[in-house]
Amino acid sequence: MTLKVGFIGTGGIAKGHIANLAAIEGATIAAFCDLQLERAEAAARDWTGAKAYSSIVDMLDDQKLDAAFVCLPPMAHGEAERALIERGIPFLVEKPLGINNELPRQLAEQIAEKRLITSVGYQWRYIQSLDEAKRFLESSCIGMALGYWMGGMPKVPWWRVQHLSGGQFVEQTTHITDMLRYLCGEVVEVYAAYGHRILHELEEGANVADVGTVTMKLANGSVATISNTCLLPIGGKTGLNVYTEQGVVEVQSNGSRIVRNKEELSAPLAITPNSRVFEDIAFLDAVRTGDQSLIKSSYADSLKTHEVTIAANLSAATGKPVKL
Ligand SMILES: NC(=O)c1ccc[n+]([C@@H]2O[C@H](COP(=O)([O-])OP(=O)(O)OC[C@H]3O[C@@H](n4cnc5c(N)ncnc54)[C@H](O)[C@@H]3O)[C@@H](O)[C@H]2O)c1
Repeated sequence: MTLKVGFIGTGGIAKGHIANLAAIEGATIAAFCDLQLERAEAAARDWTGAKAYSSIVDMLDDQKLDAAFVCLPPMAHGEAERALIERGIPFLVEKPLGINNELPRQLAEQIAEKRLITSVGYQWRYIQSLDEAKRFLESSCIGMALGYWMGGMPKVPWWRVQHLSGGQFVEQTTHITDMLRYLCGEVVEVYAAYGHRILHELEEGANVADVGTVTMKLANGSVATISNTCLLPIGGKTGLNVYTEQGVVEVQSNGSRIVRNKEELSAPLAITPNSRVFEDIAFLDAVRTGDQSLIKSSYADSLKTHEVTIAANLSAATGKPVKL
């Protein structure tokens, strides 16, 4: 059965998913929606019979979709998810789930009531060598983890504005927080310190923190710090290292490795070229079969990652540790 898919938001990340779908059998994109209609129209031109819309409700009323991809900026969530939940249409939504806890919590309840298939764009979970790393950690004593997202500022206009994006920790470093939860377990307390060093002088309208470090306590007694910056002139390193009595797990956006001894230090990462392809295949397979367990990152689980990042923002604002 060929699934009929719709896109809500047709900007940068949508293009990645659209390219993946062009190469995956068994799905066709029938509808594209974007507030900027010309973007939706440009996307629709490449898909035979596809239509473009500037209204989510018009698109969903006009088309009978089997699944949707929600590729909206952080402040734009709500209407799309509600309309999809109401109609019982499974969806993959890009991270972060929003800019606060209230809306994602409401949506999570509605999704649970409908038992709707959902996936969230935490594609790092689909790095192929991660299963081995996860097994290794399950048979080790996790001592601590160090995570990092060191880069420059993404140029989409909303990213630099705190109330539109949620800031770097919520918007970007959420991938590392999600990896920490996936590999090491639940976070129970966070303490964050953020700074505004120079980005606001370099980029017009920028008011997000440009440096930050977040210390965390985990339920299993281990500790972690995750740091980020967006003031570099070029992209830097992103990843998470987990330290155990049996060695170190190193995860980066495209691969992972386990380092047990000195000789293995020079071993390359086992690379996954495009983990988002596996994320998209898993979502479409789950829609086809009704099996949510094929998806590594449901809305309900992603909400926990999101709550950790919002707690970090609260801690940075108040100067106090926040318990989860
Ligand atoms: N998983 C990843 O690694 C990854 C990578 C990049 C971006 N993202 C996420 O994807 C999301 C979108 O990022 P982007 O880079 O594509 O942004 P973008 O600004 O390039 O695209 C967003 C699009 O949504 C449209 N839009 C905004 N509000 C809308 C609404 N209410 N209805 C319909 N269309 C609307 C905009 O016109 C724009 O075309 C962000 O949350 C970002 O964090 C995830």
